[in-house]
Amino acid sequence: MMIKKQLFSPGPTPVPERVLLAMAGPVMHHRDPAFEEVFQEVREGLQYVYQTKNEVLVLASSGTGAMEGAVCNTLSRGDEALVVRGGKFGERWGEICEAYGVNFTPIDVTWGEAVDPALIEKTLNEKPAIKAVLVQASETSTGVMHPIKEIADIVNKRDGTILVVDAISGLGVFELPMDQWGLDVVISGSQKAFMLPPGLAFVALSAKAWGFTEQSTLPKYYFNLKEELAVAQKNQSQFTPAISLVVGLREALKMFKEEGLENCFKRHAKLAQATREAAKALGLELLAPASPSNALTAIKAPEGIDGKKLKKNFEDKFGLIIAGGQAQLKGKIIRIAHIGYFQALDIIQAVSALELVLKDMGYPVELGKGVKAAEEILGSN
Ligand SMILES: Cc1ncc(COP(=O)(O)O)c(C=O)c1O
Repeated sequence: MMIKKQLFSPGPTPVPERVLLAMAGPVMHHRDPAFEEVFQEVREGLQYVYQTKNEVLVLASSGTGAMEGAVCNTLSRGDEALVVRGGKFGERWGEICEAYGVNFTPIDVTWGEAVDPALIEKTLNEKPAIKAVLVQASETSTGVMHPIKEIADIVNKRDGTILVVDAISGLGVFELPMDQWGLDVVISGSQKAFMLPPGLAFVALSAKAWGFTEQSTLPKYYFNLKEELAVAQKNQSQFTPAISLVVGLREALKMFKEEGLENCFKRHAKLAQATREAAKALGLELLAPASPSNALTAIKAPEGIDGKKLKKNFEDKFGLIIAGGQAQLKGKIIRIAHIGYFQALDIIQAVSALELVLKDMGYPVELGKGVKAAEEILGSN
């Protein structure tokens, strides 16, 4: 039987045809003025999505490279950091700190819950030496959105502390205005809301964070952000850029502008709400009901249903590639993405597949109940 494969994972995400076509052209040389023009457009487009006047650096790496770059450019060995650990990617902040000899105080958050900003304030009061708060905007492993604005309000009162936000699955999905909220480091990646294949990471630093780079003594070479900044302002990059991806990025950024950031956030909000309501209508439990990210919906596998099999059946029967649970959530949840190039009827497909797969696995489903709940939201203004 023919199976059409479709990505419903929170990275990589689907790539629009016009972006694919843009990337299919002959590879230009990165010292050619034509590429410099592309790069200039890309720099402006990234500032639009980031809602910032700061330079947004483009790195040829996955998102983790920019996370590592954020740590090794702003901190020094023996510095203190605070790490919000509410999932796999929060843990990654801790691992990067460990690798670089940065001491960190973790705030361990139950997976599926958002961090309480009051706890961050308390920890910063108790440990005034903390130089950086490292957090996710959207913790992709649990589908949680952390309260970044509230955290920024706390960190902004302290001259000696910066807020470093891994917005890899948050930027371009919901409001994260870098300048207005006073976020110090904001990281994102190409294979999420940017609707591109993996391979690019983006990072912007506030004036305060650039000040921290002057004190940082951790080793850095490929991810030397100060050097990258100097060349980016001349529409160049320090090393050979991922040329085709940058050309694709220009197209994706045009799509952001055409839709408008506000509309883009509204679309994500609606798709997310429809997915959540559909799951609830089917009697399923959400992993993150209180503070869900609009990038993806994490749904608990019902009693007696193996989450791993559930995920596999989505793909085997309908070609939909969703995500399962990671680490302690392995086999316990499925994650359905609606980040990036998704529209209303994509959600109907995913919900319909959810109904059919669950029914097939012996879970009592009234066919159409989830679809109806989703349609009621997707059809509203
Ligand atoms: C929130 C978050 N942080 C970090 C990463 C790691 O990014 P990458 O796999 O591009 O290195 C991801 C990727 O899924 C993510 O979703």
